[in-house]
Amino acid sequence: MLRDALYEKRCLMVCGGGGVGKTTVSASLAVAAAHVRKRVLVVTIDPAKRLLQAFGFNDALLQEGGAPLALSGDVLTRLGLPESAGLSVAILNPKWVLDRIVAQSLTPGQGSKLKDTVIYREMGQMVHGLQEYTAYEWVTRMLTDDEYDLIVLDTPPAFHAKEFFNAPAKIRNLMESRVFQIFIPSGHSWIPSLLTFGWVEKLLGERIYRESKMFFETFTGLRDRIIARCGKLAEFFSQREVAVVVVGTPESTPVLELEGLIGFLEEKRIPVEAVVMNQVERASEFTPEILGSGISEELLAKLSELKLHQDAKADRAFESIQRVKSRHPGREWVEFPMVYSLDGFEILKQNAAQMR
Ligand SMILES: Nc1ncnc2c1ncn2[C@@H]1O[C@H](COP(=O)(O)OP(=O)(O)OP(=O)(O)O)[C@@H](O)[C@H]1O
Ligand SMILES: [Mg+2]
Repeated sequence: MLRDALYEKRCLMVCGGGGVGKTTVSASLAVAAAHVRKRVLVVTIDPAKRLLQAFGFNDALLQEGGAPLALSGDVLTRLGLPESAGLSVAILNPKWVLDRIVAQSLTPGQGSKLKDTVIYREMGQMVHGLQEYTAYEWVTRMLTDDEYDLIVLDTPPAFHAKEFFNAPAKIRNLMESRVFQIFIPSGHSWIPSLLTFGWVEKLLGERIYRESKMFFETFTGLRDRIIARCGKLAEFFSQREVAVVVVGTPESTPVLELEGLIGFLEEKRIPVEAVVMNQVERASEFTPEILGSGISEELLAKLSELKLHQDAKADRAFESIQRVKSRHPGREWVEFPMVYSLDGFEILKQNAAQMR
């Protein structure tokens, strides 16, 4: 049960297709958890910084390096939480995490040489899956450090949700690939590094050659660590303290995407704690009696028309959810309503109330 997971788990990973409400659901679950747990952290790798906006932070408050920010008493109150609640938000900066891995794996001298190379500086953009890999690294460290009771991890929008789970294997394949072997032969290999040949320098040009040599020479120590970590990370989701929550909406395309993701996770034997159906339209609560007397016929007709329109949307959502539920019996489904409010806090508050 998702409600129990809020009490018991140490990490909730929220994933789903683009724009279905992963960031909103992550924040809502964190708010719900902050009612019952003392130290809750919600983490995003979302470059759109939506999570911070959802909590009323502006960009100026963003701290370099993604250090967690604790919500102020005022924000907690607006979220319906007691002022004493412990809820923090962090934006994960992959580059920062990578720098930490460098600091732990290499000597300070080697580390600063590596960081000076263009390849390293561009690595965040170049290496597919690095963002996800660093997220695992970061969460694992946070769990080990035990600074938080629960970490809610909002997954990135740019990649298809499946990419997130494939990331460790992908990075590992890259590290073990020919490209790396050509440049950094392992100790027992008979092939010499390509960089030992003089013609390579001529081909690449002096500066690029020097940088590449530096990068691959210093990266060796890091590569072994990353390969070892990737192996462990594959088991990350099977840990009892980690739960995966899948988010979807009742519209047809997101439902297809959602079912694809559920199937993929089943195949990978990654247990799904619950499926959250977000932005579920509810029937209108409007009745003419609410308005009392003195309302014009014209206005009443308009409002009644709007009510019919809303009720039809609610019916479609209901049918869609029933259909998808029947195809996946035995799963827990949680519904978060579509909240019509300009106040972002209201969405989080109402969704969190759903979990209480
Ligand atoms: N239950 C809800 N009621 C009303 N609006 C919602 C709800 N959930 C999400 N939204 C709105 O939908 C938009 C997309 O939500 P959100 O950013 O959480 O999606 P996402 O899945 O994280 O997107 P991305 O894939 O871009 O990261 C936002 O404007 C958000 O305020
Ligand atoms: Mg998002």
